[in-house]
Amino acid sequence: RPQLKGRHLLTLKEFTAEEILYLLDLSAALKHKKKTGKERGDLLANKNICLVFEKDSTRTRCAFEVAAYDEGCMTTYLQGSHTGKKESIEDTAKVLGRYYDGIEFRGALQSVCETLAQHSGVPVWNGLTDAFHPTQILADLLTIQEHLLYGNKKGTAGLPNPATNASAPPPPPPQLPADRFKGVKLVFVGDTRNNVAISLMIAAAKLGMHYVALAPESLWPKGDVLTHMQEAAKATGGTISCSADVASAVKGAKIIYTDVWVSMGEEALWEERIQQLRAYQVNMDMIKATDEADVIFMHCLPSFHDLQTVVGRQVRDKYGLESMEVTDEVFRSEHSVVFDEAENRMHTIKGILVATMSDKF
Ligand code: CP
Ligand code: NVA
Repeated sequence: RPQLKGRHLLTLKEFTAEEILYLLDLSAALKHKKKTGKERGDLLANKNICLVFEKDSTRTRCAFEVAAYDEGCMTTYLQGSHTGKKESIEDTAKVLGRYYDGIEFRGALQSVCETLAQHSGVPVWNGLTDAFHPTQILADLLTIQEHLLYGNKKGTAGLPNPATNASAPPPPPPQLPADRFKGVKLVFVGDTRNNVAISLMIAAAKLGMHYVALAPESLWPKGDVLTHMQEAAKATGGTISCSADVASAVKGAKIIYTDVWVSMGEEALWEERIQQLRAYQVNMDMIKATDEADVIFMHCLPSFHDLQTVVGRQVRDKYGLESMEVTDEVFRSEHSVVFDEAENRMHTIKGILVATMSDKF
């Protein structure tokens, strides 16, 4: 099996398809262990990790904490440190590397994540930067894998779906072929240049999927990452394309994925993004236009499917919208696997912690 001990997870570009599939299989096994076992494991016993958060988080922070604790690892949640203010990233990295066996970083700059990796001497995991969100994508792939294997929420493929069937112990995860994602069409609709979209595009290219970035042309991905991933897809039988036409783009899609129109740090762009993207809201018409009864709806969360939050109410009152990137109807529909996806953040983060840090594995 691939040896990932000591490795960083910075963008996902640095991982091969074989390594990604291995991480998914390991995460599925750890998920099964969690759902069937009664005791905590010790795969990360005597390890300490530091969780550095410069931006807000619910899922990523909690997933790291629970994943670590489940396997015997201590965590420190670090906010409000000197980093980048009174102390350089390099010096911070050297200090944290003396205390900890691994560091998670969430913040704006990808360069901070890379500097921590360069100078800490321990594995660094990117918990979201403006450029990439690789741990999210591992959870998304595990969710897609479960869906392809088990069918929709009711388990139409004949097996109970362990992601949703809480009443029965899940079956052990089966051995899956290396081409499990090949030919699967995933449409990302919305801000296709954001961290989640770009990271999904990277995974799709490596795994031979058909990835479509659906948005007005002004929001299409561009530059090296697009051309490199289009090249990478040629070698795996996948395709990476951009479209502004909803009907043709979504036809045949097994997955419709969206994210907020305005990411953390872009708050000045609300007005512009609403104008650019209001015709690209995921609604039931879009879901039906896939012509795929089993199509799944995915979202990394948090979501503006209803506008009942503080920020949501401001947008509702100012722009007269009921929802933004996805309607409440789709979000709550049978197609939606968003909470399976959120759960899988924890199992896949556990997978990456064990693979890159455990002495017992
Ligand atoms: N999806 C995700 O990263 O969620 P949080 O921002 O809550 O961590
Ligand atoms: N694109 C979003 C993802 C949040 C998990 C953001 O960066 O805010």
